Amino acid sequence: MLQRYHYLIILAVILVSCSDESTKFRIGVSQCSDDIWRDKQNAELRMGAYFHGNVELKFAAAYDSDERQVQQIDSLVNDGIDLLIVAPNQVKTISPAIDRAYDKGIPVIVFERKTSSQKYTAFISADNYEMGHVMGEYITSQIGGKGNVLEIMGLGGSSPAIERHNGFMDAIRKAPGINVAGSLQGDWTEQTAYKITKSWIARHKDAHIDLVFGANDRTAMGARRAIQESSGKEPGKRLPLFCGIDGLPGPNGGIRLVCDSLLDASYIYPTHGDQIINLAVSILEGKPYKKETMMMSALVTRDNAKVVRMQSEELMRQADRLDQLHRKADAYLHKLDTQRVVNWLSFSTITLLLIIIILFYLYHLRNIALQRERIVNTLWNMKPEYAQEEQTETKAEDTTGESPVTENEPAAVSVFITRFKEVIEARLKDSNVSVEDLAADMNLSRVQLYRKVKSITGSSPIELLRTARLNRAYQLLLTTDKSISEVAYAVGFTAPSYFTKCFKEVYGMLPGDVKK
Ligand code: FRU
Repeated sequence: MLQRYHYLIILAVILVSCSDESTKFRIGVSQCSDDIWRDKQNAELRMGAYFHGNVELKFAAAYDSDERQVQQIDSLVNDGIDLLIVAPNQVKTISPAIDRAYDKGIPVIVFERKTSSQKYTAFISADNYEMGHVMGEYITSQIGGKGNVLEIMGLGGSSPAIERHNGFMDAIRKAPGINVAGSLQGDWTEQTAYKITKSWIARHKDAHIDLVFGANDRTAMGARRAIQESSGKEPGKRLPLFCGIDGLPGPNGGIRLVCDSLLDASYIYPTHGDQIINLAVSILEGKPYKKETMMMSALVTRDNAKVVRMQSEELMRQADRLDQLHRKADAYLHKLDTQRVVNWLSFSTITLLLIIIILFYLYHLRNIALQRERIVNTLWNMKPEYAQEEQTETKAEDTTGESPVTENEPAAVSVFITRFKEVIEARLKDSNVSVEDLAADMNLSRVQLYRKVKSITGSSPIELLRTARLNRAYQLLLTTDKSISEVAYAVGFTAPSYFTKCFKEVYGMLPGDVKK
């Protein structure tokens, strides 16, 4: 019985696990930093994953630490991700960890910041050199081709910082009237930009700056804060222009900063998380994909900032609504899933219960049949006084049970068989006895007797009568000096030769052999 349970439980577990229809792709996202640009991108990655349905994302943010990012990549790989999306903090430092992932056969998408290795599956970014270059040209025109510019660069070893600087310098070199008063080493953060600008001002008290180019908007704003603070001590002094890169939508984004005239210009550095997820899924599903993708970007100036802002805010509103829809759908799906599990559990519990009940019922029926068989065998082959004992025992056993004794139950069977055996014993010698006679002695009709005896013992009354005759004959042969013919007549046979034939059939020997 218990073994049967085991099979049922295993079957249930298999059915539950089979009900999860789609394979999940586990994608690890290793972000070098945590800031508004990354936040926007992560939201888009989530949204992109939602549209695919078979994607599960695991995020890790290294907060600008090389060591942390290396550890995070290794642990994502150990967690068994199917694909890695990574923005390496610096070109050289993160490459070994990315190589390790790639060498393990995990596809790698490097985005936005480059590595020093060729071990990646695809690269997706906007053109950082181009951005720096366009910004350089714009700045040149903004200050009429002459003036002093201060540059605050991004993190030294990161590719966008290097490329933006190169692009910017190449553009500026074409304008002999422009002097780059300083290129300060920043790290993308507002705080560092503020600090380094402050200390530069302290060292160049008389310097006049016309424009500050920050490698990103946060950097430009850090420099702005520092310059504003020091010029506050010199009333009437005009602030320089500030330009940055990122051009994010939203309250603290570059577009709003340009609209509010805090920045003179910014450059949209696209995040496009959904596009990155599409690329990842194409790779995972073995579909064609581009190894190198360059995303479009655009300059935001005071001339177009209002339009760009309107459009980007509308896009954000739509994205927000999509997100709300997504949450609603998620909640609904979750409810549906729970309901499915509940339904499935109730269904399997009921099925299990039914199976148990059926098994118990079959087990009970078999027990009854076995018990009946035992009683019939015992009573039939036993002397009448033992049969009596067996009957009383069975009765005693059954009266302790809770269910009433029915016609088919062992006690009733025992009583019936004992009684029938007595009737047969009494009629044994009578060679003319018929089934009708036996039935009459049992107060039954011939058909009733036949049915009952057959259903209980599997033999007909006549067969039982003959068995009883032969049993008695065997005893007589063993215990008396009676001849074979005498024994045959004594147990109701009319012809000794027929008796000998029947005896041989049942006992496999001749009556004479018993005597010997
Ligand atoms: C965000 C960020 C952006 C910058 C980019 C460079 O983490 O610092 O501000 O444009 O990374 O990789």
